[in-house]
Amino acid sequence: MASLPQPPDPRPPRVPTVTTASVVGPGRLGTVLSRALGDLGIDVSGPTGHGEPIAAADAVLLCVPDAEIAAAAASARSDAGPGALIGHTSGATPLDDVDFGLHPLQTFVGTETADVFHGIGFGVAGRTPAALATATELAERLGGRAVVIADEDRAAYHAAASIASNYSVTLLAAAEQVAATAGFSAAEARELLAPLVRRTIDNWVADGPHRALTGPVARGDVATVERQRAAVAAVSPDLLPLYDALTAATADLAKGTA
Ligand SMILES: NC(=O)c1ccc[n+]([C@@H]2O[C@H](COP(=O)([O-])OP(=O)(O)OC[C@H]3O[C@@H](n4cnc5c(N)ncnc54)[C@H](OP(=O)(O)O)[C@@H]3O)[C@@H](O)[C@H]2O)c1
Repeated sequence: MASLPQPPDPRPPRVPTVTTASVVGPGRLGTVLSRALGDLGIDVSGPTGHGEPIAAADAVLLCVPDAEIAAAAASARSDAGPGALIGHTSGATPLDDVDFGLHPLQTFVGTETADVFHGIGFGVAGRTPAALATATELAERLGGRAVVIADEDRAAYHAAASIASNYSVTLLAAAEQVAATAGFSAAEARELLAPLVRRTIDNWVADGPHRALTGPVARGDVATVERQRAAVAAVSPDLLPLYDALTAATADLAKGTA
């Protein structure tokens, strides 16, 4: 089929300002980010580890634990020279020691390919307009959407990300533990629960938490909840405080008070 003529793009073409980058921290994110920036045609040095020299570059990206950001930023300032803009990739850390922040709202284990960045949000921030523009440029070239995060909002922004991602894993580990007491191997539990989890998330994305919530708490089936609680108390008593807290929070959500 012949393609329709496209209207001219009114925006001037953006000239990339980052042609060289140094990545610091050869861990989960640093490994993946280095590969993805290289795929964009950026000349990437690193990811460098402890004590390794940091090459001069347009942008230095610190992918180190939050407690190491100040030390790594100081090394980057002395190694990479005055022309380099230095950024961290932390969600929670303010910009005290760096020029910009570029936080991918995604989870990385280190083996992902560049498409892991496509379509995701990036929390960006800059101490100057040029630094913010660099963070925004990198987010967009990686295929993501930049959202500006003010320093005072960072802790809450990052708490939301941790609740959604990390604490979901904690909940799924608890489900796996209880399923094991009913005779399911870890692999079986994951395979059987995965469609339920995926559909639940799809419903939450499409319609929000109130419509996505089903099950005995939402239905008011008190006797069923009590039977579940007794089972958890018997087979996984270590999970009872978590179960009780979640039942209470779920009841609040069902009542519309959460
Ligand atoms: N992983 C994710 O899902 C994810 C998502 C979004 C943002 N982030 C952000 O990415 C950053 C790194 O997280 P991560 O999960 O990739 O951590 P990680 O897997 O623990 O990797 C951190 C790496 O930094 C190295 N390192 C520590 N101090 C250093 C220093 N002073 N100089 C050079 N290298 C140093 C560590 O080496 P040693 O192990 O030898 O100490 C390790 O290789 C954090 O700010 C985090 O908030 C991570």
